[in-house]
Amino acid sequence: MRVLPLSLSLALAVLFLVEPSVAYPYAKPASSSRRRGDSEYRADAVKEAFQHAWNGYKKYAFPHDELHPVSDGYGDSRIDYGIHRNGWGASAIEALSTALVMRNEEVVNQVLDFVPSIDYTKTESMVSLFETTIRYLGGMLSGYDLLKGPLADMATDPAAVDVLLTQSKNLADVLKFAFDTPTGIPYNNINITSRGNDNSSTNGLATTGTLILEWTRLSDLTGDTEYAELAQKAESYLLDPQPRALAEPFPGLVGSDIDIATGQFQDGSVSWGGGDDSFYEYLLKMYVYDPERFESYKDRWVEAAESTMEHLKSHPSSRPDLTFLATYDNGSYGLSSQHLTCFDGGSFLLGGAVLDRSDFVDFGLELVNGCHDTYTQTVTGIGPEEFSWDSSAVPANQEPFYEKAGFYILDGGYVLRPEVLESIYYAYRITGDERYRDWSWEAFVAINATCRTDSGFSGITDVNAVDGGSMDDNEESFLFAEVMKYAYLIHAPDDEWQVKPGDSNTWVFNTEAHILAAA
Ligand SMILES: *[C@@H]1O[C@H](CO)[C@@H](O)[C@H](O)[C@H]1NC(C)=O
Ligand SMILES: *[C@@H]1O[C@H](CO)[C@@H](O)[C@H](O)[C@H]1NC(C)=O
Ligand SMILES: *[C@@H]1O[C@H](CO)[C@@H](O)[C@H](O)[C@H]1NC(C)=O
Ligand SMILES: *[C@@H]1O[C@H](CO)[C@@H](O)[C@H](O)[C@H]1NC(C)=O
Repeated sequence: MRVLPLSLSLALAVLFLVEPSVAYPYAKPASSSRRRGDSEYRADAVKEAFQHAWNGYKKYAFPHDELHPVSDGYGDSRIDYGIHRNGWGASAIEALSTALVMRNEEVVNQVLDFVPSIDYTKTESMVSLFETTIRYLGGMLSGYDLLKGPLADMATDPAAVDVLLTQSKNLADVLKFAFDTPTGIPYNNINITSRGNDNSSTNGLATTGTLILEWTRLSDLTGDTEYAELAQKAESYLLDPQPRALAEPFPGLVGSDIDIATGQFQDGSVSWGGGDDSFYEYLLKMYVYDPERFESYKDRWVEAAESTMEHLKSHPSSRPDLTFLATYDNGSYGLSSQHLTCFDGGSFLLGGAVLDRSDFVDFGLELVNGCHDTYTQTVTGIGPEEFSWDSSAVPANQEPFYEKAGFYILDGGYVLRPEVLESIYYAYRITGDERYRDWSWEAFVAINATCRTDSGFSGITDVNAVDGGSMDDNEESFLFAEVMKYAYLIHAPDDEWQVKPGDSNTWVFNTEAHILAAA
């Protein structure tokens, strides 16, 4: 049981007198009755897009990992893209929790029928411990929590729900040898047939630090503490980084690579981008998951967040009104960022809400605003994979763009990433400001207009070209798990799993947007 800070309790008490549903301590929501029709219409449009993508996947690709939405073929991305996703029906597992919150019974039961047939002991590819954890373990455990709880009536066969937990345990039992190292820091790339690995001497910050939520949830649900202990042992090296002088250049902000044999950080290279990102995300989310067991994780997140505001906050010279996060390494700052990094606004907003820190909420909204600008400034209305605001290196052909937009494009691809929609979702749910619903809707309409094919949605090569340049013929499974979920939930009714202002959240989203019940 968490205790509300007094100021927030009073604010909530006052707000509850006038607004009986949800109270927004940080901003006054615009009158919502005028908007109710819009929200329903928009929520239905996202459901339509989800169904369209599911139909194409079911017809041309199921039970492979993903659809090739231009050629109507399929992929098991282990082979095609060198990213290990195992060929265990990634898109189907990733669709489950989204189908649940959309109350799409047909898709839910199609996935439930499929789950018992997956053989997690067999795959031809190397397996990424991180990707497999966030997509498969996260997806199955979320399905289990929702179907054992508020959505129990959606499963045609209640026994199929128990299989989600059995299969989660089966999968973790296959994977857990990865932690059998001198330090307990796991190998990320493993061969489950030989119980071998890729002989890497290091593991990364995010790949090591984004296991703790799923493996802890599995222990809490099964009563077998081994899974949580393995993930916590690995995380212990990240919470107390050594050698300190190298590994933690600013309080809470740490380097990127950790030696598997010694537990020592190999660098002090700091970012909130790919490779580092969800380590910070999970420090806070573990506290939301269980504030008693994970209070020290929250303390580390607060240190990181305060250092980020002090040291990494950066404004483009051409658009000082915008805020992005720089990277830092050994005395120098990097003025570039990624679509992946744009989860940052959502993390600050959640932290601000849960910890009653309006400075974090305000900073989170600044970050959301900057990432939103990466969408509104391009020809397609979709933001790029990588961008920069280093004014000393603007390419000549992008100078006018940099002047107006505040960034220039380093990689113009869009592979159906969710992070901007994710942070906009937090902005709406925590402030109640209707403007964020409009931002999300405009981004969704742009994605639907540019990426949609006859069988699904495809990544594109250039967000700043008419029609997105060309299509890359790949539909990442996170389209189902994340893009569709965040685009939908922002307009959807106030269900118990929706992120809420204050510290009353009883559900927590994993980094793949699979929603887990808090402890
Ligand atoms: C995994 O190990 C097995 C058994 O040693 C081997 O046959 C297979 O080629 C390995 N797989 C990969 C992807 O390296
Ligand atoms: C890792 O090293 C072992 C022992 O030297 C070797 O047999 C194995 O093939 C290596 N695996 C990879 C993926 O390089
Ligand atoms: C940091 O930069 C200094 C020079 O600016 C260099 O001498 C030193 O080797 C660098 N340290 C690391 C760990 O790269
Ligand atoms: C999405 O695209 C389809 C196909 O062009 C169209 O029928 C539908 O109205 C679009 N939805 C939205 C919300 O724009």
